[in-house]
Amino acid sequence: MKTKIINYPDLVAARNREVHDTVFLDAKTNHFTEMELIAKDKNYYIHTYGCQANIRDEETMRGMLESVGYRKVDDPSIADVIIINTCAVRENAEDKVYGEIGNLKKYRKSNKKLVLGICGCMVEQPEILQILQDKFSEVNLYFGTHEIDQLLDLIYEVYTNDYRLISIKSKQGEVIEKLPASRNNEFKAYVNIIYGCNKFCTYCIVPYTRGKERSRKFSDIMDEVRELKKANYQEITFLGQNVNAYGKDLDEGFDFADVLEEAAKMGIPRIRFTTSHPWDFSSKMIEIIAKYDNIMKCIHLPVQSGSNEVLRLMGRRYTREHYLNLVKEMRRKIPGLSLSTDIIVGFPNETEEQFKETLSLVDEVKYESAFTFIYSPRRGTPAAKITDNVSYSDKSRRFKELVKHLEVNIEKDSNSYIGNTYKVLVDGVSKTDSSMLSGYTESNKLVHFKGDINLVGKIVKVKINESHTYSLLGELVNE
Ligand code: 5AD
Ligand code: SF4
Repeated sequence: MKTKIINYPDLVAARNREVHDTVFLDAKTNHFTEMELIAKDKNYYIHTYGCQANIRDEETMRGMLESVGYRKVDDPSIADVIIINTCAVRENAEDKVYGEIGNLKKYRKSNKKLVLGICGCMVEQPEILQILQDKFSEVNLYFGTHEIDQLLDLIYEVYTNDYRLISIKSKQGEVIEKLPASRNNEFKAYVNIIYGCNKFCTYCIVPYTRGKERSRKFSDIMDEVRELKKANYQEITFLGQNVNAYGKDLDEGFDFADVLEEAAKMGIPRIRFTTSHPWDFSSKMIEIIAKYDNIMKCIHLPVQSGSNEVLRLMGRRYTREHYLNLVKEMRRKIPGLSLSTDIIVGFPNETEEQFKETLSLVDEVKYESAFTFIYSPRRGTPAAKITDNVSYSDKSRRFKELVKHLEVNIEKDSNSYIGNTYKVLVDGVSKTDSSMLSGYTESNKLVHFKGDINLVGKIVKVKINESHTYSLLGELVNE
């Protein structure tokens, strides 16, 4: 099969951040009518890896596919369009994708018209794209994070031609509005407020794969929130690689605190947001979070390391002292605050002392939850060029030690729930015990309890009787 390349990714172009105004475009499909005919009685299957941005992209892709008539299936063997939406943030996420494509490629034999597409952050890296091309001749569509709005036209081209198509442009990116969405959940929704990242932390591939920071217009965000409120959504989560940077690329005069406040006034019961960079978290944001009951008192504040030297090498733009002061201010002004974080162990040449500084920071902050990672070199990032003298076994020992330190406080925090009653948004039937329901407290603790399935999507009161490290057990309280 021949390959047609519309655009091929390029990490140098992906690094470009020429200052220019954010470009706003409305979504447009050239072959909509033709696609309605092609999609008739056909199925699609999408599997997404990685972060909330990818999950939200999947919802957009599903919305587009369903708008022309494709039906969602959970079994790829009966799908006419298969899309694997990939993540590049660490190597193990990539390894899983290779495994999955290996399993899916056989379906091309039984369905010659199958569209087998790979998208997301992995294919934004030229070397990885080359590996995929060499390994999997069955894949006939590659598209990047900037081409999602063109999905239907890309499928049309692959379906009506006998070639493989690659359309991945490394660019700063636009803001595309008026894209459909088929949301994963009927009472919890993600709302993008800013795309991309300009921070270029030295270990991270995201600024290359997702382009420059670009904010949606304030009114477009609020229109979406208003619609979600009208549809009776109970929880929204504002999304951005760094939500604090909201509005800095626009001259509308709104910042992230304004987004939070305006949404809070609309009365959505639960408002969350992720992720916040410690570097530009403003006091105004802290005050707005404290002021409104429906803004959840949960802040995800990735620290990455407790050592100033490591933070400097990571290009994080803050010191341990700055971070700890920010945490102090947050804890002082936001009663009941629940703090979570991301931590990387084993950054190149991290010494035992530097690692101990991360442990002491963790002990001091007392996080209520945390995501921990072993450093994974990402080709094309500055950190990947550093010769590393730390062995993998040292890294995994440090990783286990870190988790132990974190768990001391997480367990203590979970214990403090026992005997008290909390508002829980009921998510569904428990994944581990089908006789139980599960849901989340306002502070984002997972709770299991017995109850009627009709409660799914509602906020109920649950009294906590038992605590485990990562979940709580309780009983419904009738009002
Ligand atoms: N290696 C390990 N962890 C990483 N993260 C980002 N890049 C890497 C990497 N190269 C982690 C950071 C980030 C989270 C989303 O993933 O902790 O906050
Ligand atoms: Fe990656 Fe840093 Fe941007 Fe987060 S802030 S996406 S870690 S570069």
